[in-house]
Amino acid sequence: MKLLRTLLQDQFTAARREISSLVTEHGDLSVSSVSVAQLLGGLRGVNCLVCDTSSVDPQRGLSIRGIPVAALSDRHPEEVFWLLLTGQLPDESQLEALRDELQERRRIPVCVPEMLAAMPDGSHPMVMFSASLLAMQGQSHFSQSRERTPRDELWKLALEDALDIFSRLPLVAAAVYQRCYGSGDVIQGQLRGWTEDFASRLLGHDDGDFRELLKRYVVVQSDHENGNVCALSAHITGSTHADLYYAVSSGANGLAGHIHGLAAQDFIRFLLAIQEQLGAEASYGGVRALLEQRLREGRVLPGFGHAVLRAPDPRFGVLHRLAAERYGSDPLFRLAEHVYGAGTELLTAHPRVRNPHPNVDAITGLVLRLGGIRHDQFYTVLFACSLAIGILAQNVISRGIGSPIVRPRSVSLAQLHAELAAH
Ligand code: MLT
Repeated sequence: MKLLRTLLQDQFTAARREISSLVTEHGDLSVSSVSVAQLLGGLRGVNCLVCDTSSVDPQRGLSIRGIPVAALSDRHPEEVFWLLLTGQLPDESQLEALRDELQERRRIPVCVPEMLAAMPDGSHPMVMFSASLLAMQGQSHFSQSRERTPRDELWKLALEDALDIFSRLPLVAAAVYQRCYGSGDVIQGQLRGWTEDFASRLLGHDDGDFRELLKRYVVVQSDHENGNVCALSAHITGSTHADLYYAVSSGANGLAGHIHGLAAQDFIRFLLAIQEQLGAEASYGGVRALLEQRLREGRVLPGFGHAVLRAPDPRFGVLHRLAAERYGSDPLFRLAEHVYGAGTELLTAHPRVRNPHPNVDAITGLVLRLGGIRHDQFYTVLFACSLAIGILAQNVISRGIGSPIVRPRSVSLAQLHAELAAH
């Protein structure tokens, strides 16, 4: 990966210079302020992080390095990894070189399946995924060589770890799948492409349709700025110079919450419960009445709402189109359509709701289920493998541009009152 290293070396040298002059020339300029509502409301809308890999516009949704995510949905995860890291899509020879490199590195230490075998039955797949990353930490180039490496070159060690982890994600996820459900195939010979290999390991055979689905699923979820809990947890952990095994594991732990990455699992359960209650051929009116009742009881609708987006999520759009083309006549898809339509109709009329559209979690679990992965607890592992791609790139960049340890200050409620009284 000499090519990639040279490209990044030049970019990081320029970025360090740019950052240093920004601090010297504009260090005192304010780019955001924090209202009391934001302070007490999860810091929504506060600009306090730097992230060059992607951005999330409340109206237009995700762009990766300036490219709207829908325009990338036919790309391979390897191409998107390169794009996230460098800001450019790879040409054919760069992509081939990256694929060679990943294939070369695609193996996991035997301690991973051994550790998984020793874990309690019934452990959530996310626990197993996160623990697997930690089990491999002893192989981190960053941790092994950090002390004797100049600060400006730490990114090279991070890049080694990023390439190792990226190449291993299909193996780790398949090992977790096999441990939890006794299916999939961890040991068969590897296929060349990252997604081909991943898809065949999960299904136990090569299936072009599932491969295509998984490719889109991974690409559209490969990054979402670094303010989402998963990426932020990883970013903060990485800022301490803990290596990428720790950082990706931290991200995965954050992702494992119900109002974050577990939402895909929760939405599909919600959908299946509606199917159970109203029958497979439920009418729009029946679904609408059920959702209305739920809202009247003050309960949230799974699959709706987002911290940043205020318009339809383009990631939802990409996966929804794929599902409609492939599974349009499936009763579960038709039921989901009723939920999307009725949910949006009801929430649009709700005065406090700022985004009535279904979110990405309302489609990801559904496409995976219709595509053949029926174990819903596993969905978040696939989300983690996708978001990990952005985390890996962000971490290399953070070390490359010399990002400092993250350490905001806190205020107590008493201090807050004192400050307000002084106003
Ligand atoms: C998302 O991908 O939508 C994240 O999980 C939520 C966020 O961006 O805050």
